[in-house]
Amino acid sequence: MLTQRQLAKTTYGMAPQAPTTPRRTTTTWPDRNDESGRVVDVTMTTWGFIGSGNIGATVARLATAAGHDVVLSNSRGPGTLTDLVDDLGPHARAGTPAEAAEAGDIVVVTIPLRNYRQVPTEELSGKVVIDTMNYYPQRDGNIASLDDESTTSSALLQAHLPESRVVKGFNNIFFQHLAALPRATGAADRSALAIAGDDLEAKKVVSEHLDEIGYDTVDLGLLSEGWRTQPDTAAYGVMYAVDPQAWDQGARPASAVEVAELAAASRRHHDPRDAPLPPRRGTDESTDHHNQE
Ligand SMILES: NC(=O)c1ccc[n+]([C@@H]2O[C@H](COP(=O)([O-])OP(=O)(O)OC[C@H]3O[C@@H](n4cnc5c(N)ncnc54)[C@H](OP(=O)(O)O)[C@@H]3O)[C@@H](O)[C@H]2O)c1
Repeated sequence: MLTQRQLAKTTYGMAPQAPTTPRRTTTTWPDRNDESGRVVDVTMTTWGFIGSGNIGATVARLATAAGHDVVLSNSRGPGTLTDLVDDLGPHARAGTPAEAAEAGDIVVVTIPLRNYRQVPTEELSGKVVIDTMNYYPQRDGNIASLDDESTTSSALLQAHLPESRVVKGFNNIFFQHLAALPRATGAADRSALAIAGDDLEAKKVVSEHLDEIGYDTVDLGLLSEGWRTQPDTAAYGVMYAVDPQAWDQGARPASAVEVAELAAASRRHHDPRDAPLPPRRGTDESTDHHNQE
């Protein structure tokens, strides 16, 4: 259960609602990294982070608040993460991307998409990998298979990590909203986060982890359905915003039903049903609009 101090740190100044019941569970699942078939208690998870910026640090804060361990990494080296590690407390440490990948029972890849080929592969073999990345051509450069929508950004990461089990998640919630909206299991105002992935067991693992850090889950289906929450779609972030035009003006809960309905209403740029959507927008009008890049 989150302490008041931990809650205060997760809210970025927004009014939190403290969890009303303990949400510690004893759910277990097979540890795919352990050939012996040992099971790992969800409460003893180590999260690895490839990227420790807005989203990485926010998820890490939620994970440590739930009592999990985290290993953070970035491109500049562990020494640049000292302040964040100190702030997160004894459950946090820093390493290289390879060390974070190796240490994590579950690993969050949360970097600019343009760098996805730099994500370590061998250390992530067999692991559940959560992909938070979004495609912004203005930031990431043009990627032809995303421009023509013949694939999805998470499918690209899955192709880079063929031995891993990639689940798309956290990509369509502004990091301040993610920090502000965790609630206890069963709370009336609990929010849901969308996931997509090709591996059912991996999605179950992610769903268990999201529950631990304060969120319900909406399963969109395969990675090929992940476009439903990509930038410029109906399910891209607005449902968690008090003011859909100014996302830094506070968070509001969004239920699983609301998230699922918006995802169902999403369209792609090349949707043949009617007129094309406007051109892709820049990062300044997206969940990343506070990105300092
Ligand atoms: N901001 C949001 O609210 C939000 C919401 C949903 C999804 N997203 C998506 O999630 C991803 C991360 O967003 P963000 O806002 O957290 O970005 P950010 O604040 O700019 O942080 C990016 C992080 O990635 C690290 N990084 C970059 N290249 C790396 C590499 N090759 N290996 C290891 N670490 C690397 C950076 O480290 P250095 O600083 O050392 O380079 C930094 O820690 C993006 O794809 C974004 O589109 C963002």
